[in-house]
Amino acid sequence: LDNGLALTPTMGWLHWERFMCNVDCAGDPDNCISERLYMQMADVMVKEGWKDAGYQYVCIDDCWPAPQRDAQGRLQADPKRFPGGMKKLSDYVHSKGLKFGIYADVGKSTCAGYPGSLGFYETDAQTFADWGVDLLKFDGCFMDWTLLGEGYMNMSKALNKTGRSIVYSCEWPLYEWPFHQPNYTAIRETCNHWRNYADVYDSWSSVKSIVDWTASHQNIIIPAAGPGGWNDPDMLVIGNFGLSHDQQESQMALWAIMAAPLFMSNDLRDICPRSKELLQNRHIIEINQDPLGKQGSCTAKGNSFHIWERPLSNNRQAVAVLNLQEIGGPRQFAINTIPGWRICNPKCEVIQILPRYKDLSVQTLQSQLVLSVNPSGTTLLTITPISKDHTRFPRLQW
Ligand code: GLA
Ligand code: GLA
Repeated sequence: LDNGLALTPTMGWLHWERFMCNVDCAGDPDNCISERLYMQMADVMVKEGWKDAGYQYVCIDDCWPAPQRDAQGRLQADPKRFPGGMKKLSDYVHSKGLKFGIYADVGKSTCAGYPGSLGFYETDAQTFADWGVDLLKFDGCFMDWTLLGEGYMNMSKALNKTGRSIVYSCEWPLYEWPFHQPNYTAIRETCNHWRNYADVYDSWSSVKSIVDWTASHQNIIIPAAGPGGWNDPDMLVIGNFGLSHDQQESQMALWAIMAAPLFMSNDLRDICPRSKELLQNRHIIEINQDPLGKQGSCTAKGNSFHIWERPLSNNRQAVAVLNLQEIGGPRQFAINTIPGWRICNPKCEVIQILPRYKDLSVQTLQSQLVLSVNPSGTTLLTITPISKDHTRFPRLQW
């Protein structure tokens, strides 16, 4: 969507995978969907380096509204769980130098059964603008699939009409895929990012299924990605319970290669130092945020491994070697024997970003560079070609 926003993939925090529809503030006050949760998350994001690392958007997902609209037909926040109201919460988030995201649904009700926006697009867009909302995640439950396109496009227009800059995060293609191949030209023109595939869960099989889906549909979805519009493989579940550290590294590496929006869904108030370091790794974030804005692709599949490559600005490239074997220990990959690997031609400089930062120096097509990749882990590299005369930069011509 050409609204000047999301020129690189959006980065932030979104409550859904970790906190879901927990509305039990009496029994579980620390984890229920309430203004307190977002205020605490905003505090931590500033204090613990998340904001400085680039994570800017604090986003509410489903289950925030009161069950009824107000007398003017406007959505209102649940008064018990958001006693200060949304405007005040938004002001608080802004006072921290962060941005504020909210959730609604194109259909009759949200996926969890709260009021949907069907018939109220202009009202709701204006309400969100009045509250100072900076991002809208617009879900697609309870909508006739043939009306999805019209609904998403009308909300896009309604947001534009408010005059406020609001990142528009869609789930349009996810809900259309069961019926036909979505029109990605229209989707890119309408949304800043869009979910294509099932919700992520806190498990390796979920992350793997997203990676597999993306690889098998890459020819359809990659051309749509670029500054202003991104494929959204759903939230980062790093820092939760279900992924080993190697699997967390795989998610981070692949989301960087896929030019994915980086929405963490975890508890930043209590996160293990290794997960935090991974999520804040500036080399990986730099790959994710590369200004060229080209989404990477799976360029080779072998015996239980994948190679993913992403073109970067200044002729650089990011490469991920994903080991899908979940038996035995680390596997050794000699890079010049990997099918499709024709990167260091004739020479290149290789930096290993994951599993630990390591300068692998100059390599050639003939090099016997051996990478060790842990079970369900990923080795992530950046590659800078070196021209034939061994200079990185063109010499001055006299
Ligand atoms: C759908 C979306 C999820 C989340 C839930 C909320 O399943 O895909 O990301 O927003 O609804 O109910
Ligand atoms: C595609 C579709 C057209 C139209 C445009 C909009 O090309 O085939 O019908 O929707 O996208 O960009």
